[in-house]
Amino acid sequence: MGTTDIQARLTELREQIRRHDHLYYVKARPEISDAAYDRLFRELLDLEQAHPELVTPDSPSQRVGAPPLDELKKVRHEQPMLSLDSLVDSSDVLAFDQRMKRELDVASLEYTAEPKFDGLSVELLYERGLFTRGATRGDGTTGEDVTVNLRTIRSLPLHLLPRSGYPERLVVRGEVYMRLDDFQALNRRMTERGEEAFANPRNAASGSLRQLDSSITAARPLVVTCYEVMALSGEAPPSHWDELDALARWGFPVPLHRRRCGSIEEVMAYHHETEALRDSLPYEIDGIVVKVDRRDWQERLGFKSRSPRWAIAYKFTPRKEITVVQDIVVSVGRTGTLTPVALLKPVEVGGVTISRATLHNADEVARKDIRVGDTVKVERAGDVIPAVAERVPMPDERRGDPFRMPAACPVCESAVAREGAYYYCTGQSVCPAQLKGAVEHFASKAALNIEGLGKKTVAQLVEAGLVRSLADLYRLTKAQLLELDGFADRSATLLLEAIERSKTVPLDRFLMGLGIRQVGQHIAKVLAREFGSLAALMEADDARLQQVQEIGPEISASLVSYFSEPHNRRAIEELIEAGFHIEAKQVPVSADAGLAGKSFVFTGGLAGFTREQARQLVEERGGQVSSSVSKKTSYVVAGADPGSKLAQAHKLGIRVLSEEEFRRLMEEGA
Ligand code: IVH
Repeated sequence: MGTTDIQARLTELREQIRRHDHLYYVKARPEISDAAYDRLFRELLDLEQAHPELVTPDSPSQRVGAPPLDELKKVRHEQPMLSLDSLVDSSDVLAFDQRMKRELDVASLEYTAEPKFDGLSVELLYERGLFTRGATRGDGTTGEDVTVNLRTIRSLPLHLLPRSGYPERLVVRGEVYMRLDDFQALNRRMTERGEEAFANPRNAASGSLRQLDSSITAARPLVVTCYEVMALSGEAPPSHWDELDALARWGFPVPLHRRRCGSIEEVMAYHHETEALRDSLPYEIDGIVVKVDRRDWQERLGFKSRSPRWAIAYKFTPRKEITVVQDIVVSVGRTGTLTPVALLKPVEVGGVTISRATLHNADEVARKDIRVGDTVKVERAGDVIPAVAERVPMPDERRGDPFRMPAACPVCESAVAREGAYYYCTGQSVCPAQLKGAVEHFASKAALNIEGLGKKTVAQLVEAGLVRSLADLYRLTKAQLLELDGFADRSATLLLEAIERSKTVPLDRFLMGLGIRQVGQHIAKVLAREFGSLAALMEADDARLQQVQEIGPEISASLVSYFSEPHNRRAIEELIEAGFHIEAKQVPVSADAGLAGKSFVFTGGLAGFTREQARQLVEERGGQVSSSVSKKTSYVVAGADPGSKLAQAHKLGIRVLSEEEFRRLMEEGA
């Protein structure tokens, strides 16, 4: 291909991808399969890689992020970015309507009502259809230049739709925010990595957009909706309603749930309906925005110093409420993590009565300094678990003692150990709160590999009270299994046989099966080779353990706390009494750091490993695990129901591994 042909093909590819992005992200009406889309994207990336001089800033390839900046440049807005007067009471809204009619000297007028998105507002500049600059609101006069970060947002058009009649120059205002489900998933990833979670979707959106490294923004699930033309060349549409239609025509995502109202009563009805919808929306809104529809009337009404006279925010009743902490209890999760939970004097927040709220972890409790008896603000964001937002100091209050994590697990009384900000119960399989997870892990492929003992069966066995410890597995009878749903003679026999077979097992797999924190496949092998027998390992103290190459203070602390817990020793004895034959044979260790410099990203659910185990396996081999896909990612491991990272991987042409391939890579090396 000659340069002109390449240029032509690039233009064509970009146009096609842009069109499909718009169909997918803005219209939610894709016309081609993901695979077909990926092929287009791949071709674009390949061509651009071969001809870097032909890369343009509006190319869809630029959505993955640009080189990090030293600082966010300040930009002066075209026109001040105003805010809105907020009203909560309907009487004030009726008064607003009266005022409009009086000032315009009319008997009736139309309003446009639309959701008030709870994010951060941005100014977007388009020149000749091209997105050339974007800025945060800042103080209203000057904001921060976040152009490269905004480019990573899929629903933001980098180029307006061709032949849609867009103006030469256009300045648009919109809101950047995060969907609730994406927000929760992001927070889960952050806490898993030991990073502090965002308090709410708005903070998450703001923190994600105001990054110096736009590849971080690219990995954050931001969306944008546009609701205002701030300036344009040529003639402006005659009403706000027409303006939104025009924005949609040019390719912008606009509020879908909007209404043109012929009277303030219709606005009231819309407010009411929207508030009822609020909890079922996938994103946060905190009210509606009511705008006088006709542009000439807007102009006649004009502005106050910081807000237009012709628009208001009609807010919903707030979701933060004040109540009292009656007690702080500790709940134990499936993986043994201890979470402090505030028991509250019941309070209604946004239509739901709340009597418990999470305090996340001990550091959070300390940071917010929450104690029993304190007055606090609780908040609820959609279906996010209610959380204690902050303490409200009261005059003359007499405060209780600071909260402290218990030394023993509130469920099973095993000792509690600490890992970073988190406390966990060392009881693992002896802790009822962790039993299902522990049994699943014990039976998994990488551990005892008991065929037929998957998640569902484990749940059945535990719920029926047949399995209260790992050793109980070896006491199961056929008659008991036949009582359970879905078991027939043959399946019961097969399961019992598989359980029986698992009694003969190499030491490393047995160790792995115990689910000791920090002890994944590789470390289990190292330990098995070093100590040769379970008894020898159980007797080793911290100093002895740390003599072993690859065993650092964290792993050794975890082993010591596990084996010094009497419940755990008893559980192991019981297994041995059940007839275990643990082979102490030499196991080959993939001691090489064969994955040095390689980075992995996981998406979707893994059947045979927890995320933590998978991370350990990678790290033990010198690799790294990261939470977002970038050009630097070596492998993306896709489990069940993979998320958007898989698409990202395809787009960037990164090697995707199935769980099975990942397992083999861990066992055999690259
Ligand atoms: S119109 C001149 N419409 O609410 C009018 N604002 O203080 C400009 N917001 O900071 C605002 N959804 O970030 C408008 N549909 C919507 C909105 C909206 C959210 C935000 C905006 C502004 C704040 C009001």
